[in-house]
Amino acid sequence: MTDSRPIGVFDSGVGGLTVVHALRKRLPSESIVYLGDTARLPYGTKSHGTIERYTLQAGALLQRFDPKLLVIACNTASAHGLEALKRESPAPVIGVIEPGAALAALVPGPVGVLCTNATLQSGAYEKAIRQRNPGAEVHTLACPLLVPLAEEGWFDDPITVETIRRYVADLPPAVKTLVLGCTHYPVLKASLEKAHPGMAWIDSGEAAALAVEKLLTERNAKREGSRGEMKVLLTDPSSRLQEVGSRFLGEELGVVEVVDI
Ligand code: DGL
Repeated sequence: MTDSRPIGVFDSGVGGLTVVHALRKRLPSESIVYLGDTARLPYGTKSHGTIERYTLQAGALLQRFDPKLLVIACNTASAHGLEALKRESPAPVIGVIEPGAALAALVPGPVGVLCTNATLQSGAYEKAIRQRNPGAEVHTLACPLLVPLAEEGWFDDPITVETIRRYVADLPPAVKTLVLGCTHYPVLKASLEKAHPGMAWIDSGEAAALAVEKLLTERNAKREGSRGEMKVLLTDPSSRLQEVGSRFLGEELGVVEVVDI
């Protein structure tokens, strides 16, 4: 049996296209409806109630497309809105924190998590890692400057390398594994590796793509056949977002539809 309905993916902006990139690599036949709330980004500086409300609104909008599954690609929205959206959504919902935390829980030594301020405040990563490994030593670090550096396209740049070094210096030197707990960080891999050669990185987007594949396989709900279609909805259509979005996605973004939440 196959299910050709789309997967609904939601993010605060275009950063979540890194998660779509991971999804399309792993599950190329799946059709995706992507909603980026570009009019209200960033979420990483906002409070719990606001992020939860925005997440529920995004879920309600994606519901119009009859999705077989919703993916919250945004770490911040996963930290603050996943539980509420799970309660309201008729479709199953996967966030990016649980899958990344599941991998982090397997690490024998201390683990660092790089994320936004709001994700740090939520304590969601520590909670999810310690649920699986109660003795885990978790150090969470907000790295707000990495979002604008990624949006500027400074993926492999001495300033990005230095910024990463400056942030990570606040972690104990025994940390040898870092979770990329923000949509924007995977595109910075070249700089991350230059800043900390030998460090192991857990990409929460790739981990989420694996979780999506597992869930669809269990439910016999994978779409087979030709490459899936992609529809991109944004709440603000600035032309800069087209360019940045294409870089995050690793392919042309194509036609963008503007929606009002
Ligand atoms: N998408 C957000 C995240 O993954 C980063 C950008 C924002 O603050 O909205 O946490």
